[in-house]
Amino acid sequence: MAEKLYLYPKWVRLWHALNAIFILLLIITGISMQFSKPEFGFIRFDIAVSIHNIAGMLLTANYLLFLTGNFFTSNGKYYKLTLKGLFQRLTKQFIYYTIGIFRHEKPPFPVTKERKFNPLQQFTYVAAMYVLVPIVFITGWALLYPEVLFTKVLGASGLKVNDFIHVIVGFFLSFFLFVHVYFCTIGATFVSNFKSMITGYHESH
Ligand code: HEM
Repeated sequence: MAEKLYLYPKWVRLWHALNAIFILLLIITGISMQFSKPEFGFIRFDIAVSIHNIAGMLLTANYLLFLTGNFFTSNGKYYKLTLKGLFQRLTKQFIYYTIGIFRHEKPPFPVTKERKFNPLQQFTYVAAMYVLVPIVFITGWALLYPEVLFTKVLGASGLKVNDFIHVIVGFFLSFFLFVHVYFCTIGATFVSNFKSMITGYHESH
């Protein structure tokens, strides 16, 4: 009988659903703006710009929900990275994902009320939520209000450097999303982690 733990409170599920919607809209409109010619867009250029700007603003507002939630509730503790032994823990989890799992070994860091994320999950969630997402929305706001930017950064145009960071980090986040959704399929069953994000309950193997 699979054990069920209540790990995803309502506010986490709400934040996560909105976050996923906004990021998907940002990726689709972002790709459309980058690769379409003005006269022939996958999404008409001005429409893509408007959706991208609005989704970016809403993503920022929703991020405040994540920050406040993690600050005021116990969910924040799952995001506290302990640097001591981190590399060994990441390696152990990596070896499990590449070898152990295929030998039906037990996971080295099973999910408990105290440990919601395994080391690789924790590391990538911290990187995505506390580094990549803030960089992408801060550089995004700077593109909306370019007058706040330095005109020159080490001799290069401040606007271009900002734009470059925005696009590269956006690409990293798209890659994160791809890997994230794939790893979410490795649960008790193919769909059990997705169900967790609806019901709030995590199902263990
Ligand atoms: C189609 C889009 C997405 C799907 C289907 C999806 C799916 C899931 C699922 C099933 C979980 C629960 C399992 C777990 O804790 O690992 C989860 C958690 C999480 N996801 Fe996603 N996700 C999506 C988009 C995103 C995006 C865009 C981000 C960040 C940029 C993100 C960040 C997170 C974080 C930080 C958690 C842990 C939340 C917590 O419990 O505190 N997800 N996701």
